[in-house]
Amino acid sequence: MMDGAVPHPVLADGFLADVVEGLSRPRKTLPSKYFYDARGSALFDAICDLEEYYPTRTETALLARRAAGIAAFAGPDAALVELGSGSSVKVRLLLDALDRPALYVPVDISREHLLAAAARLAGDYPALTVVPVAADYVQGFALPCSLVPERTLAFFPGSTIGNFTPDEAAAFLARLGRRLGRGSRLIIGVDLKKRRDILEAAYDDAQGVTAAFNLNLLARINRELGGTFELDGFRHRAFYDEALGRIEMHLESVRPQTATAGGHRFQFERGETIHTEISCKYTVSEFQNLAAGAGWRALEAWTDDAQLFSIHALIFAG
Ligand code: TRP
Repeated sequence: MMDGAVPHPVLADGFLADVVEGLSRPRKTLPSKYFYDARGSALFDAICDLEEYYPTRTETALLARRAAGIAAFAGPDAALVELGSGSSVKVRLLLDALDRPALYVPVDISREHLLAAAARLAGDYPALTVVPVAADYVQGFALPCSLVPERTLAFFPGSTIGNFTPDEAAAFLARLGRRLGRGSRLIIGVDLKKRRDILEAAYDDAQGVTAAFNLNLLARINRELGGTFELDGFRHRAFYDEALGRIEMHLESVRPQTATAGGHRFQFERGETIHTEISCKYTVSEFQNLAAGAGWRALEAWTDDAQLFSIHALIFAG
């Protein structure tokens, strides 16, 4: 996927094909990468500011508190590659602490959002070379230049790794390591297992911002694919599956209904759901074991005092 010379084909109608494929399954799904159009990216930034959504502020505080340790771990003249860089806010804590960071490569699927964030960041860090890459980093992406593994620091915050299943996460980390090379380093944020009520509130806030974010998937199908989804016909559902250690997010049909997109018809029973996202939670040692299976050796794991969130420092040993 990330290696090899054959590029992944990017079809102009990839969105429609993915929608049709996902909604034609006996248990309907939609790929979560489509959350992040301009409206979705703005709603996601609003989620990060919610009182209930503890991950962003907890991870940010932890990065600030551990910045010196992270800088020592990365070493001087590092090239920083951020996966899913969004608004490039957290990375500033690293850039401020690192010893002469040489290069910053933000990679994000949301092109306009990425370019605006990269331009702002380049303005604030004139000595830094900033090379944004608009790509789905899960499918693989071309690095803009050859990087020296020992001086490459990948940054994957936000517990985005939790949006993969554990098997997918291990495969992704192994591919990333092979791509960046033996001796490359990774700083990754991972949400911890905790009480159900705290978890469920984080994914179903009182103001309904997360609900709007989830429903924006259907609104985007209407906007971009001429879909006919009635937004008041679906409601946001988020629950913690303790056995699987993960939050599941769904859009539940509140009545029997039919919707169309791109000439395809989809039928919904009352109570039927479209599965849109998972967010897996790990203990520190569970995640270290998963990473070790993918070739990443654990050097440090930092947690906040309330044990809400973890940041791992890993080296690719191959
Ligand atoms: N990586 C984030 C998480 O798992 C993504 C996220 C937060 C999210 N809130 C969401 C994804 C709501 C979909 C819907 O916490």
